[in-house]
Amino acid sequence: MFANRTNWDLTPNRLSEALAAHRTARKPLLDLTVSNPTECGFSYDSKAILEALSNPAALHYEPNPRGLESARGAVAGYYAGRNEAVPVEDIFLTTSTSEGYSYAFRTLCNPGDEVLVPSPSYPLFDFLAEIQDVKLVRYPLLYDHGWQIDFHALEQAITARTRAVIVVHPNNPTGHFTKSSERTKFNAICNVHQMAIVADEVFFDFALDGNRAASFATNSDVLTFTLSGLSKISGLPQMKAAWLTVSGPQNLKSEALGRLEVIADTYLSVNASVQLAMPVFFGQRHCFQEQLLSRVRANLKELDRLLAGQNTCSRLAAEGGWYAVLRVPAVRSDEDLALELLTARSVYVHPGHFYDFPTDGFLVVSLITPETILLMGITAVLNFLC
Ligand SMILES: Cc1ncc(COP(=O)(O)O)c(C=O)c1O
Repeated sequence: MFANRTNWDLTPNRLSEALAAHRTARKPLLDLTVSNPTECGFSYDSKAILEALSNPAALHYEPNPRGLESARGAVAGYYAGRNEAVPVEDIFLTTSTSEGYSYAFRTLCNPGDEVLVPSPSYPLFDFLAEIQDVKLVRYPLLYDHGWQIDFHALEQAITARTRAVIVVHPNNPTGHFTKSSERTKFNAICNVHQMAIVADEVFFDFALDGNRAASFATNSDVLTFTLSGLSKISGLPQMKAAWLTVSGPQNLKSEALGRLEVIADTYLSVNASVQLAMPVFFGQRHCFQEQLLSRVRANLKELDRLLAGQNTCSRLAAEGGWYAVLRVPAVRSDEDLALELLTARSVYVHPGHFYDFPTDGFLVVSLITPETILLMGITAVLNFLC
């Protein structure tokens, strides 16, 4: 009755079962995995957001495969604010970055074609690829004096079926921004093997040292699809407002734009009210990012203060994003450790394998966790470990 691509093993893992039981028993929980910014105590301009959603222009249907020009103008304005010129004709609105991935995969890949994906990275990639019949092939990131991309392993992973490489800029959860020298290498490899770049920049604005990296949205050396959205940039995941931009050599870019237009025209997925509200939603980002970065920096400072008092656990260096990776003794599996922390100390952390860390000994915590919870949670983790 069902397609093989949906033959997932949906039995909950031990950690999610234990978490559900913990919650059902209404036990206290120090949740260090929160990722929904609307649940983290940030303040939003509710009036402006709600008013923006009641624009009378939403009573008219103006189908446009790329999305309303006013909304795309707001996206172009966002890049212009970073001195990156992205023409409105090269922008497609999507409901989410996830949808942007599906547009990119659909444009580039036949069933069974391969896409290179960084490891460790964001766990949703497996589903995003499987649903589009795309095969993911990992390329390793190594931690050695900061995060490094193993370009040798990446090149060895390329086959005749490789269509694209995913670059997460900065990566989740490692917080590594792609440096310009690394971008040059990606471009050179993609040129040789006729591959495209799919750049995920959802955390692009969250540089911890305030340094601004260059966006892939203006990468013109190879065909590049750059994905981002307001779920992280303005902390509005519920609004489902995201985009995909296309850049690259003119012939490939025109071909990609034409194909994407058919895909986008088939779905016309972003609703009018949200598109009309996008300029206001973009305006919210300044206040949101200020609050978020101040929380992340305060949490990092506190985390480092607590870590300085012991030598069992350390933090890996991060340049951006919302997460911290903790290195712990690999004396049991990450999952066992996370389970014990939950059952014995009521602290919920993500085991490294959730993000595809290749070995045990890593935990991931969210730095948007409210400060007092992070303090209590990390104290409990260190008491347990030391
Ligand atoms: C690297 C990365 N890409 C994409 C997403 C999802 O973004 P969206 O809500 O726009 O689908 C996330 C969410 O955490 C993410 O971490």
